[in-house]
Amino acid sequence: MRDAAAAREKLARHGQEHALRFWNDLAEPDRAALLAQIDSLDLVLVDSLTQRWIRDTPAPAHFSKIDPVPVIKTSSPLSSTDQEASTAGEAALRAGRVGLVLVAGGQGTRLGFDGPKGAYPIGSVTGRTIFEFHADKIHNLQRRYGCTLPWYIMVGETNEAQTKAFFGKHGHFGLDPANIVFFTQHMMPCVSEDGKLLLETPFRLASNPNGHGGCIPAMVECGVIADAKRRGLDTLSYFQVDNWAVKVADPLFIGHHVLRNGRMSSKVCPKTEPRESVGVHCLCDGVYQVIEYTELDIYPQLLETGPGGNLIHFAGNTAIHVLSVDFVEETNRNFANFPWHCSHKKIPYLDDSGALVKPSKNNGYKFETFVFDALQYTNHPPIVLEIGRLGEYTPTKQPTGPNSVEEAQDDMNQLWGGWLEAAGAAVKRSAGGAIISKIEISPRFALTLDEFVERSKGHAWPKNPEALAIGPEGQILTGK
Ligand code: UD1
Repeated sequence: MRDAAAAREKLARHGQEHALRFWNDLAEPDRAALLAQIDSLDLVLVDSLTQRWIRDTPAPAHFSKIDPVPVIKTSSPLSSTDQEASTAGEAALRAGRVGLVLVAGGQGTRLGFDGPKGAYPIGSVTGRTIFEFHADKIHNLQRRYGCTLPWYIMVGETNEAQTKAFFGKHGHFGLDPANIVFFTQHMMPCVSEDGKLLLETPFRLASNPNGHGGCIPAMVECGVIADAKRRGLDTLSYFQVDNWAVKVADPLFIGHHVLRNGRMSSKVCPKTEPRESVGVHCLCDGVYQVIEYTELDIYPQLLETGPGGNLIHFAGNTAIHVLSVDFVEETNRNFANFPWHCSHKKIPYLDDSGALVKPSKNNGYKFETFVFDALQYTNHPPIVLEIGRLGEYTPTKQPTGPNSVEEAQDDMNQLWGGWLEAAGAAVKRSAGGAIISKIEISPRFALTLDEFVERSKGHAWPKNPEALAIGPEGQILTGK
């Protein structure tokens, strides 16, 4: 924005002039920062969201019928269909058609961690970070398929500098920096209960990242899609930073997607309990959608169990997808119609005297988009793979309790301890049979049980260790 007059005029058109009420007290650099933020605001969008979500308080969507989504169940050993899919996925990887999209826009606040979630030291033995586990998987896949897997990482304004610095400090975990592309999602301003912008400092409006759905416009605007096309990619493996266990670019999943000419495909896993904090994949009046866990009370049928006591709507959202490059572009072209979600939040703000108020109850709204809302535009039968949790889905949302750091570390012990036993090594088990040795195996050394058994030949792993960490080259790593 060129000057305060233009900013004032823009704000005035939308009844938001109060955003400049501390202007006269601001130093020059702070004025420039505020003008830049005002320039980037889409106040027409803010007006329409405020009208729709706050003034009109819309009734939740009514669906006459919510059906479970049909899923592809995989088996071990693989069925002939899965075998065919796996072969097709491997061929796509070898041909260099696959890239990776990681959404890592949030901070580790819920983990009680001051920094980007991916920098969380999740390894219980060495303190290796979630980013490093993801990077090690990429090393392994590149070796295995002789390909380059470009890694597109979405960051937010609040963690961009920290995330880039973290990758720099760790030498990009040994990956070629030319194949790691950071891109930044937009922010959305928060509004008060009467739809007014809120200042969090005299020169900064309260705002939040625009949700992971923001990766769709960001991929186009920041040149990710152009880069992908230049590299000959047509398929993107999408995952969330907090799931250390995700099978990045899983050939089986990619194969099911490409063999069906998929536009967007998903992995689901059975919910652990009706109110688990995961979205539910379902068909709402025939349209493939995810209903978020915050809406379970609106759609109580999602909590119902069948005759055997099993949840009818069991298909928990793992937030693992495959997207076609063309579908991202096409969805972006229609992004003006993409759904927004609104949540009532406690938003710190400056009162008229300039004092910071930290509200004890919800005082405003934030707006976000969710990537899974793109599923309704796929226009093909749902492509949904049902997976188990161990070695696939262990999100880390909080320090202890369900879907926590504690559970993630225990899953590492159960998964990798099992591999060690399969390779003829011994681990400690509790009286109840759970593996209690703390185990970490670098995914760069082995990505699957078979690979671990094969690469263990010639290694004598320590017996019944209290704690054991195996590094990228099969070396024994020391503790934290
Ligand atoms: C999310 C899903 C939920 C799913 C669960 C799986 C939403 C709204 N819900 O819940 O359906 O079952 O994960 O573990 O996502 N992120 C960004 N930018 C943003 C917001 C989020 O990059 O603006 C990233 C975060 O870094 C994180 C991921 O998206 O990796 C998920 O966000 P989070 O808020 O943790 O979602 P959940 O409530 O865990």
